[in-house]
Amino acid sequence: MNKFKVFCTRKLHSKALDLLSESFDFSFWDNYDKIPKADLISQASDCDGILSMLEDDLSEDTLKNFPNLKVISNYAVGVNNIDHDYCKKMGIQIGNTPDVLSDATADLALALLLSVNRKLPASFQSIKNGEWKAWSPIGFLGQDLRGKTLGIVGLGRIGACFAHKCQKLYGNKIIYYNRNKSKYEQELEAKKVSLEELCKQSDIISLHCPLNSESENLFDKKLFDMMRPNCIFINTARGQIHNEKDLYEALKNNKICAAGLDVTNPEPMSPDAPLLELSNIAITPHIGSAVDKTREEMAMIAANNLIKYFTANN
Ligand code: DGY
Repeated sequence: MNKFKVFCTRKLHSKALDLLSESFDFSFWDNYDKIPKADLISQASDCDGILSMLEDDLSEDTLKNFPNLKVISNYAVGVNNIDHDYCKKMGIQIGNTPDVLSDATADLALALLLSVNRKLPASFQSIKNGEWKAWSPIGFLGQDLRGKTLGIVGLGRIGACFAHKCQKLYGNKIIYYNRNKSKYEQELEAKKVSLEELCKQSDIISLHCPLNSESENLFDKKLFDMMRPNCIFINTARGQIHNEKDLYEALKNNKICAAGLDVTNPEPMSPDAPLLELSNIAITPHIGSAVDKTREEMAMIAANNLIKYFTANN
């Protein structure tokens, strides 16, 4: 194959780096930290392909600096960091890493759900504060999750994987909100409802939809106000889908019971963010797919997406 120029914006698993080095005129940002925009622009200026991370800002403003660019392979399932209209206009293809991270991400959604339901953050904090004085029959009570209604926003691969896990553990009734009928509807005996109905009926709400103009800021005061006081809100999709200020008010005023977030807006979250003052929340730093095997598979898929593209378009 003609040696196309490929740049990777982060240090990745060595197996993937080796494969990329064998296949391309390859260079990468030899660092586990985010590449500054100025470095990205200078280092990738003449590249044909980019292997990018979900936090790389590949807006038109950045992409217009790469006149040779033909393909972007994002090391993520979400591709909201890339300007799709610009790519379409310029004929730049976009690849991602679906499937392999569904199980890991659904596991993290479950971990967040169990963590906030059983009040792990608050009870751990109480030990650290020296507040554990006696065993209490009424201390840190969670809800019995059995038979509860689970509302999934975005019943795709990850949402269905999470719904299956919950159904197996707790026999949850599944309702969902999607633009179109989900192909997982039948196997989960899930019912498609409006977003408003989902908010009113669910004991647990879990977000698994992509971030786009329709989902941005979707969960705001209006929807939080419709939720049940026992509702547990989980977001492992993208932080921009919920309004952080409105979520804070809903949690602080006990309009909803608790929240588990793996994603925030912005990322990284500021250590001064008001949500961090609350005890009915668990927050993790976007680690949904952070399982060793998953991350290695994502790296190989992202590398192979580039190889497939250039093999087909050589
Ligand atoms: C993704 O792939 O989009 C996740 O958010 C990160 O693993």
